Amino acid sequence: MTALMTRLQETTAYIQSRYAGRPEVGIVLGSGLGNLVADMKVELEIPYAEIPHFPVSTVEGHSGKLLLGQLGGKTVVAMAGRFHFYEGYAASEVAYPIRVMKQLGVGTLLISNAAGGMNPDFKVGDLMIIRDHISFFTVNPLIGKNEDALGPRFPDMSEPYSKSLIKKAKAIARAMDIEVHKGVYAGVTGPTFETRAEYKLLHILGADAVGMSTVQEVIVARHMDMEVFAISVITDLGIREEENVITHEEVLEAARNAEPKLTAIFRQLIAEI
Ligand code: HPA
Repeated sequence: MTALMTRLQETTAYIQSRYAGRPEVGIVLGSGLGNLVADMKVELEIPYAEIPHFPVSTVEGHSGKLLLGQLGGKTVVAMAGRFHFYEGYAASEVAYPIRVMKQLGVGTLLISNAAGGMNPDFKVGDLMIIRDHISFFTVNPLIGKNEDALGPRFPDMSEPYSKSLIKKAKAIARAMDIEVHKGVYAGVTGPTFETRAEYKLLHILGADAVGMSTVQEVIVARHMDMEVFAISVITDLGIREEENVITHEEVLEAARNAEPKLTAIFRQLIAEI
């Protein structure tokens, strides 16, 4: 067995030694979007630091944990806190927990993130279902020897985001009278927000929103043929006439304000999977 598969097996065995359930849905929650777990009946909580082979936190006071339990009638595993490339993790480390989810039995991955809006129709607090993405110089987590046990050397990426989950989510949002956009997410490394010229460029090149996460997680998930659904909360607008200073605080506040809409959609979507 390869070193990666051995590590994955050890991580999975550890989690399974503490939790007998078999999660079918995995959830990754973005900045300021952690409240979904308040709805969850948490049966086990494991700090990342206790999980063998999980990335080691580079940030002081960083306190991520893996939550296992019930939500929307399903057994789920949720990451409260994700690993970002800009924190100094390798692309493969950012992706590692998604690989663990798959080993635990997860077939469907739901992702949320905070993103900057470029589409002129977007307002702060809007939701955007991601229908496709563009990687702007994010490092592909599959670079290196392919792990044939997980997926093919050259994975297809023609439909990274499940059309059927998008359709379901749109119907759910409509029934709940929640406005949602659909658009293309540009993945960047951060940690700087974009310059005015960069927001403009990304929009001209076909992106509606931009953020510092998600793309690497989606790539490994699709490598393993997981079904993926992702949604962005628009927390700031990159393209506007007036002075436009963007702060992390503003991003977090906008995410928190929009969160109930996102949570409602996720909860119902999980119930319908
Ligand atoms: N750019 C990149 N990442 C982000 C932004 C942004 O404007 N807002 C939230 N995450």
